[in-house]
Amino acid sequence: MKSEELFNEALKLFPMGVNSPVRYYSPVPVMFSQGKGSKIIDVNGNEYIDYSMGFGPMILGHANEEVALEIKSQIDNGILFGSITENEITLGKIIKNAVKSIEKMRFTNSGTEATMHAVRLARGYTGRKYILKMEGGYHGAHDYALIKSGSGTMTFGTPSSAGIPEEVSKTVLVGQYNDRSNIESIFREFGSEIAAVITEPVLGNTGVVNPEDGFLKFLREITERYSSLLIFDEVITGFRFGFKGYQDIVNIKPDLTTMGKIIGGGAPVGLFGGREDIMNKISPGGNVYEAGTFSGNPLTMSSGIATLNILKNKDYGYINNYTDKLVNGINEIIEENKITAGINKCYSMFQLFFNNKRVNDYNTAKLSDAVKFKKMFELLLKEGIYLPPSQFETNFISFAHNGGDLNSTVDAFSRVLKCL
Ligand SMILES: Cc1ncc(COP(=O)(O)O)c(C=O)c1O
Repeated sequence: MKSEELFNEALKLFPMGVNSPVRYYSPVPVMFSQGKGSKIIDVNGNEYIDYSMGFGPMILGHANEEVALEIKSQIDNGILFGSITENEITLGKIIKNAVKSIEKMRFTNSGTEATMHAVRLARGYTGRKYILKMEGGYHGAHDYALIKSGSGTMTFGTPSSAGIPEEVSKTVLVGQYNDRSNIESIFREFGSEIAAVITEPVLGNTGVVNPEDGFLKFLREITERYSSLLIFDEVITGFRFGFKGYQDIVNIKPDLTTMGKIIGGGAPVGLFGGREDIMNKISPGGNVYEAGTFSGNPLTMSSGIATLNILKNKDYGYINNYTDKLVNGINEIIEENKITAGINKCYSMFQLFFNNKRVNDYNTAKLSDAVKFKKMFELLLKEGIYLPPSQFETNFISFAHNGGDLNSTVDAFSRVLKCL
């Protein structure tokens, strides 16, 4: 069956035909059936160079043979026992050795679960009710994460979704990423009741937005000053820029960290962890409840162990250089053709914004021409290049991308950007 016929079937089963909203785009989202290395193949047999990489986790490329072997061997031995297994210990040790601030951790099945539990733990540990998040920061799809501010002057968040009670949204404060005076003023008013600040250290869900010099350090200082906790949501950034967290690169120690994506090697995963005294508050030893039938399941753990064991010996310079060359190539096309656009980059992540302003927060990202982006996305698809289908997502480079991919991608961007 071809893409369109299959999508019609999907429409009868799933709202808008998808099981997660960003997978939908009009008129018919491409349906993929295979992936190998940097390429994905759709149900019609067309091949694409993939820059979504499963929205980040597939840093080794699709269908890595060593990872697949480990997963297959776990399948032969059983995939779920509902008890502790050695795999959890192995993966836990790898992560603890790589990320200094993680003294103890719990595995979950998604990043959403990880941040949900981290937020509850912060509240349970401090006995305070407010969580401060950044506008445009995404931490998954639970009630305490789906809040953004209604306007620049509002402090309390308004829900980004129907179905979130006002009582819930009133416990989430929304600050401006990269804006110290805004964060200072929120702390001055609510500081003694703020349980935690949660932020992606590099925003990856508003395109790519880098922290300005000193901003993360400032968050560390102000949270310490008010005895609030600092949670770094490293679901995207964990093991993305090096065999460590972004926190280890900038040398800032959060109290709690959440991870996901890469640590499961493409299998469903999440993790929250951090200071031992805080983590010891988790049940059954402590009084903050957290649980999951599939948490730390042997299959996910085997995928994560295999992935991290390979990554440990990789030179991250490779994916960073690839990204540099790609971004330089696209920037040259932008300049030569006087296109109103700019690119934000962080190591092996980048995003092009159709914007005449430098994008350094949610508000500047929002000014981008998302319609033009969609047009670029569609034209690139025809050229055999698959980007994440939104102006507010991030392109990811994997270790499977090669020189041929790089040249083809720059050539495709050249043709497409000139058309636009
Ligand atoms: C920074 C961040 N936190 C949390 C999540 C939620 O993770 P998941 O989709 O696994 O629930 C995401 C998902 O993209 C994310 O980017």
